[in-house]
Amino acid sequence: MAATNETRRKVFLGLLGSAAGMALGGGAGARAMVDQATRVFRLDGGGVTYAFGINAGGQVQSLYWGAALAASDSLPAAVPVEANSSNEMAPGLTPYEFAGFGGGLTTEPALKVRFPDGVRDLDLRYAGHQDKGDSLVLQLQDAKRAVRVALTYAMDEATGILARSAVVENRTGNWIQVDQMAAACLNLPYSDDYRLYFLSGRWAGEFMLQTRAITPGAFVLESRKGVTSHQINPWIAVSRAATGEESGPVWFGALGWSGNWRINVEMDAMGGVHATAGYNPFDFSYRLKQGESLASPVFHAGFSNEGFGGASRVFHRYQREKVLPHAPRPRLRPVLYNSWEATFFDVNEAGQVALAEKAASIGVERFVVDDGWFGARDSDKAGLGDWVVNLKKFPNGLGPLIKRVNGLGMQFGLWVEPEMVNPDSDLYRAHPDWVINFPGRQRSEARNQLVLNLARKDVCEHLLKVLDALLSSHNIEYLKWDHNRAWSEPGWPEVAPDDQQRLYVAYVDNLYKLLAELRRRHPKLEIESCASGGGRVDLGIMRLTEQVWTSDNTDPYDRLVIQDGYSHAYAPAAMMAWVTDSPNFVNKRVTSLEYRFLSAMQGGLGIGANLNHWQDEDFAKARRLVEAYKQVRATIQLGNLYRLVSPGNGSPRSATLSVSHDRKQAVLFAFLHSSMMRSAQKSIQLRGLDASAVYSLRAISGSAAAGTVAKASGAYWMGHGLKVALEGDFQAAAFVLEAVS
Ligand code: GLA
Repeated sequence: MAATNETRRKVFLGLLGSAAGMALGGGAGARAMVDQATRVFRLDGGGVTYAFGINAGGQVQSLYWGAALAASDSLPAAVPVEANSSNEMAPGLTPYEFAGFGGGLTTEPALKVRFPDGVRDLDLRYAGHQDKGDSLVLQLQDAKRAVRVALTYAMDEATGILARSAVVENRTGNWIQVDQMAAACLNLPYSDDYRLYFLSGRWAGEFMLQTRAITPGAFVLESRKGVTSHQINPWIAVSRAATGEESGPVWFGALGWSGNWRINVEMDAMGGVHATAGYNPFDFSYRLKQGESLASPVFHAGFSNEGFGGASRVFHRYQREKVLPHAPRPRLRPVLYNSWEATFFDVNEAGQVALAEKAASIGVERFVVDDGWFGARDSDKAGLGDWVVNLKKFPNGLGPLIKRVNGLGMQFGLWVEPEMVNPDSDLYRAHPDWVINFPGRQRSEARNQLVLNLARKDVCEHLLKVLDALLSSHNIEYLKWDHNRAWSEPGWPEVAPDDQQRLYVAYVDNLYKLLAELRRRHPKLEIESCASGGGRVDLGIMRLTEQVWTSDNTDPYDRLVIQDGYSHAYAPAAMMAWVTDSPNFVNKRVTSLEYRFLSAMQGGLGIGANLNHWQDEDFAKARRLVEAYKQVRATIQLGNLYRLVSPGNGSPRSATLSVSHDRKQAVLFAFLHSSMMRSAQKSIQLRGLDASAVYSLRAISGSAAAGTVAKASGAYWMGHGLKVALEGDFQAAAFVLEAVS
C-alpha cells in the first residue's frame, strides 16, 4: 500500500484531552486516528501511543500500549489469538479492551450481566464510535440483546495518560442484573519478565511499596471495606525486570474510586498480561431497569520509559493539571497548624486561642481545630453526628475563636466526620434507621461508631443542610473530612432486596455529590481527605479535595518511608505532613526538631506539636524553617520529584530532589537514618538540572561536607554530586540550588 493511500484512509478524529466526569483543566488534547480499512484506532500524546482494533468478529482488541510509535507506522488489523488445543479458546487468550462474560471467556470479564431468563452470556461487539472533541467514545452492543456499552477514552496530550471508563445501558425492555463491571481492561505487550508494584499498608503504616513477579494465574488487589482502604491502594505499576528508578519501561494505572474496588492482574495461558480495574465484584450486584444505565469509575493509565521516577513525575503532573481542584493550577498548600496531637479531645476556646497565637508567631497560615469541638464529644464514645458547637467547651460558639484566628492573619479550619454517627448521639437517637444495617442483625461498631447510609436521599440532604449551615454561619475556609472505620453489615433495608447492593455505588456517588455541592456553595472552601490517616487517597476523592492526610503516623522517619511509597502514585501537591512532638506518640522515637521539620517539608507543611511545651529556641528554629519552606514550597509541591535514594527496605539514608519546571530552583533533602553508614556516605548525584546552567548552593538546614563548592554547573551537581555532612542517627539536611547563570 502506497503511503499516500495509507494516509488518505486514516481519519483524524480531533483532539482529546479530558476524562469524563473529571474536573477539566482545559488545554489541547491528544491526537486520535482511525484507519477505516483496518479498523485500527490510535491515540497519541505525551510520548505514548495506545492502539486497539476491531477484529473480524466485531470484538475490540488491544493492539499496542507503550512508547510513541512513528506517525507513519501502521498497525495491522486485530486478529483473535488462536488456541493451540481444544483446552483453550480464543476468548480466553485474546486481549480484549472490554470483554463481556460469555462465549469462551475464561479470563477476567470487564462486564458480567444476568438476564431475567437466566442467560448470563454477553458478546460485546463494536457498534460505532463518536469523536466527542475531548474524548473518543466507542459504542458496543451485545450480539443478541440490547445491552449497550459506551467506552470512553480520553488521552491527555501533555502526559499521554489515558482516562478510561465505561457506561452500560439496558435497552432490553426488561431488567438486567450487573454482577461485575470494570472501568477498563489494560493489556500489556507480551513479555515474560514483568514485575508488579503496588502499595499496601495499615493504620500508621500506609503506602508500603510491594513488588512481585507476574506469573501465570491472577493476583487480586482490592478493598472490601466500603472505602478506598489503607490495606491496598488502588494503584499499580508494571515494569520489566531491568527497569530502575530512572530508566526502563513502566506501565501504571490508578482507579479513581473511593469505595470497594478491585484490580485483577492476570497472566493467561499464553502469557498475555491483563489488568482489569473497576467496582469490586465482591458482594456486588446492580439491577438496571429498562432504560437505566450504570457508569464505572475512571481508570487513569500511563506509561513512561524513564523508570519509576519518570512514571511518578508524569502522573504527578497529570494530577496537578487534570485532577486536583483548581487544575491546571492547584493552589499551594498553606502552612497549617492542627491541635489534634496537642490536645486530643480536650479543646476549648482559651486553649485554642493560646495555641493559635503561638502558631501565628512562627508563620502558620491556617489554624485547624480537630476532633472534640461539637456535640457531647469528650472522647470517641459520643457525639459524632451532632455537628453543633459544644457550648461547654466554647460557651460563645466558635465565632470569637475564628475572629481571633483571622485577626492573627490565619485562616480557620475544622475537623468533621460527616459520614459517621456514635450510637450515643442525638442524631442516632432521632434516626436509628439512617445507618447501614440489616434489620434484626447486630450493628458492629468500630471506634464506637456506625456508618450513615449516604445512599439515602434524606441522609445526604441532612448532611448538606448541617454542613452548609456550619459553613454559612462561620468563616471556615477548610474542612478536614475524616472517615474512621470500615463498613460492616452493608444493608439498605428501605429499598427492595434486589436493589440493596446498589449501596456500594450510590453511597460513593452521593459522597462525591455532597462534596461538590459544598464546594459550589462555598467557593473559598478547601477540603482534606482523611480516613484514619491515608485510608481514602485515590483519584476519585482527589478531584474534590485539595489535600490528603497521608498517615496518622507522624514519626518523621516512618513518615519518610510512607511518603516515598505515596510519591510513587500521588503528587506532593496534595500530600500533608506534620511536625509533631518528640517522642512521637506512635512509636516513642526521639528526634530533633530539624529532622522533624525536614521530613514534613517534603509536602504541604503542617505543625501538630503542642506549642505550649516549646522553648524560645524551638520557636526561633521553627520560625526560620517555616520561612525557608515558604521560599521553596512551590518547587516542592509543584515541581518534579526525583527519589535520589529511597528510604525503603531499611536503607540507612535517603534523599529527594524537587526541581522547578523552569529548572531554576531545586531543593535537596538528605537524611541519615543510621550512623553506622556515616563513613560510607557517598556523594548524592542530583538529577533533572540544566547541565549548562550554573547553580549556587545554599543550606536551609545542616551543611555540605568540607570543601564543597558554593557554585557549579548543573553537570557538576549531577555528575560529581554533593556530599552532605551528616554524623548521627536521624540527622537531616536540606539545600536550595538556584540557577545564577
Ligand atoms: C482520625 C484522624 C486523626 C484525627 C482523629 C480525630 O484518627 O486520622 O488525624 O483527626 O481521627 O478523632
